Amino acid sequence: MQGLQLEWPFYIEAMTGGSPESLRINEQLAALAAKYQLAMASGSQSIAVKHSDNADIRRSFTVIREQNPDGIVFANVGAHTGVGRARMAVEMLQANVLEVHVNAAQEIVMPEGDRGFYWLENIASIVQGVDVPVIVKEVGFGMSRRDIERLSEAGVRLINVGGRGGTNFVLIENARNEDLDFSELETWGQSTPEALLEAQAATQKMTNPPAILATGGVRSPLDVIKAGMLGACAVGVAGYFLNVLLSQGSNALDETVDCWQRTLVRMMTLLGCKSFSELSQCDVVLTGNLLEYAKQRHLR
Ligand SMILES: Cc1cc2nc3c(=O)[nH]c(=O)nc-3n(C[C@H](O)[C@H](O)[C@H](O)COP(=O)(O)O)c2cc1C
Repeated sequence: MQGLQLEWPFYIEAMTGGSPESLRINEQLAALAAKYQLAMASGSQSIAVKHSDNADIRRSFTVIREQNPDGIVFANVGAHTGVGRARMAVEMLQANVLEVHVNAAQEIVMPEGDRGFYWLENIASIVQGVDVPVIVKEVGFGMSRRDIERLSEAGVRLINVGGRGGTNFVLIENARNEDLDFSELETWGQSTPEALLEAQAATQKMTNPPAILATGGVRSPLDVIKAGMLGACAVGVAGYFLNVLLSQGSNALDETVDCWQRTLVRMMTLLGCKSFSELSQCDVVLTGNLLEYAKQRHLR
């Protein structure tokens, strides 16, 4: 997959770092990642590269690598981050991959968020300027066919279409916005299945298409399988795993990951697929809203 080989098709998606509480969370998540050979993405390292002399902040991120010295770790920065800081984030974790998150809807709703999004050129510079593969990831509002084409034209070889259906940053940020109410944007963007259909349409005519990943609302092994059938080569899981960890503890998350891995293998056997990539060759039937979406967008 475009310079990235994962042991399992699902991984622990970017969540946290920067505080004592997040150190404990990252420590537990990274220990599980090491035990189950899952890739793991760090939460945004912006705070750590900005305060690079603060050892406590730094350690809340580097614990991910300490716990998982040989595993696949994704560094994480925002799309506005300069190349120098992006390189620092990679170096801090000896990361195998750099994840660059795009989150325009979240920024718009945040009282102190960005209001201008001149990100594409910067993303191209990051891709050129770091020496690990770069994933550009939406944080939960999906991508359109055009978004994927533009990222591909900018040289991005790994795209996570991260769609609606799970953690919703419009609602989270709206809850602390005392000035304006953006709750009407709750359904902004593409759901994860819609974004994956957009990606299929975008990539089918490309001679050297980027690899597509998915995130957003993945809560079960069947969700992972469905994303694979819609063309995802790997699937990130954030909110569901965090919720199990915080509400039931690390043993419960350990059991969950173990069950997911064993269930996935059985489901793929049922589908006659020896590798995750073979899922994209399975027949898919769309129904309801997703079929309507595909028709209106001329995606199939
Ligand atoms: C508590 C929390 C913090 C997050 N922080 C980050 C972050 O720092 N950087 C990032 O790229 N994504 C971040 N995300 C977004 C997730 O990586 C993921 O894209 C999003 O939550 C959708 O996946 P989900 O529905 O499985 O939660 C965060 C998600 C959660 C739940």
